[in-house]
Amino acid sequence: MGTLKGPAENRTLVLLMTCNKLRKKSKLLCLFKILGLWYTLIPMSKLDLVYLDHNATTPVAPEILASLSSYAQAWGNPSSIHAGGRDPKQMLRETRRDLAAHLNCSPLELIFTSGGSESNNTVLRALWSKLGSQRNQFICSTVEHPSLMKAMEWLAEQGAQVDFVPVDRKGQLDLETYRSLLSEKTALVSIMTANNETGTLFPIRELAEMAHAVGALFHTDAVQMLGKLPLDLKALNVDYASFSAHKVYSLKGTGALYVKKNAPYESLIRGGGQERHRRGGTENTLGIAAFGEAIRLLSGLSMEASRLRELRDYFEARVLEEIPESSVTAFETERLPGTSSLILAGVDGETMLMSLDLKGFAVSTGAACSSGNPEPSPVLLAIGLSRGEAQNSLRVSFGRENTREQVDAFVEALKSVVIRLRQISKETEGVCRA
Ligand SMILES: Cc1ncc(COP(=O)(O)O)c(C=O)c1O
Repeated sequence: MGTLKGPAENRTLVLLMTCNKLRKKSKLLCLFKILGLWYTLIPMSKLDLVYLDHNATTPVAPEILASLSSYAQAWGNPSSIHAGGRDPKQMLRETRRDLAAHLNCSPLELIFTSGGSESNNTVLRALWSKLGSQRNQFICSTVEHPSLMKAMEWLAEQGAQVDFVPVDRKGQLDLETYRSLLSEKTALVSIMTANNETGTLFPIRELAEMAHAVGALFHTDAVQMLGKLPLDLKALNVDYASFSAHKVYSLKGTGALYVKKNAPYESLIRGGGQERHRRGGTENTLGIAAFGEAIRLLSGLSMEASRLRELRDYFEARVLEEIPESSVTAFETERLPGTSSLILAGVDGETMLMSLDLKGFAVSTGAACSSGNPEPSPVLLAIGLSRGEAQNSLRVSFGRENTREQVDAFVEALKSVVIRLRQISKETEGVCRA
């Protein structure tokens, strides 16, 4: 594991903390870049990494890795009528069949896309184009993924009325506000099945029923739900749903969109007649074949969900008992089994993340640090966490390969990082005041 010990570790932590503090105060992106450059020079072994960031992406399943070259050998164009098109066409057919069986829908109701972002954008733009002139109101929650929020922003620029349903710090949607917003003007409601940062689940069936009662359509971003808990689209009674393959131990750049039979629809990408004219572009046969394999590997889903729930509960119990001034966001709310969003008072999330990375553990902050943005997570702020709490947040998301031993090792590492960072913080505050 890439560990640093003693004074060297202390110096590293002080440097990390100082750089992160300065960056937040001055908001100078160049400082972050210097920090980033220096930080990436520290040698780390990827092989020893304990990966605890499964909501960001998942490792590719070994079964899929082993099959990739055979999928790639079916390199023909699935639209070709000659023999070269048969194998790739069959691969698409099998994935569509197995994904449909897993979701309880018809294979014809599934369209392959490049992932969750494309699926989300497609639905919103399609509904604006098809219904915008009769019904111009679009509703979503305040905690949606940026791919949905940005598409909503675009709709507002086009003249749509976009309304947001608040979510409280328990992760619960304000049903009264939702009810009051729905009207005969509502074209579409889009509310995610499970939140990527806190893991909280929304009552999709009930929300869809309320939308349908005023004649509106309902879309759910089910990217985080797929592969973590069972999903039954018919029971949920939604009109559209988005999925992404890289969250289920498969490849990036592949996803799907469910469009209920006869629901209004328009292709976002115009091109050839692929996907029954519903999404132009030669299909990503390798990604789609791998996606099918990933779906077939979900057969023991309920057992794995219980295992992850136990692992997560064990982890949270240890953190709450052994790390003072720690809390779990939306602790009492029903959440995805492997997701834990922690607040560790007084410790900067990014510094914590980098220190844990140096010790060989991969987690994420609530902060949108990937884009070099020093602002805390909009989702955590939206549910009512203070800026300080959001900046002290850390997201841990467990997956298939994680064990109790890894959780134990992680708790020890987290404890030592939090204690040390709090200590350094006190000492440097003293120096600043002197
Ligand atoms: C809830 C949610 N929706 C959409 C996406 C985007 O999916 P993709 O990366 O396949 O575009 C993500 C990915 O993080 C997500 O968590």
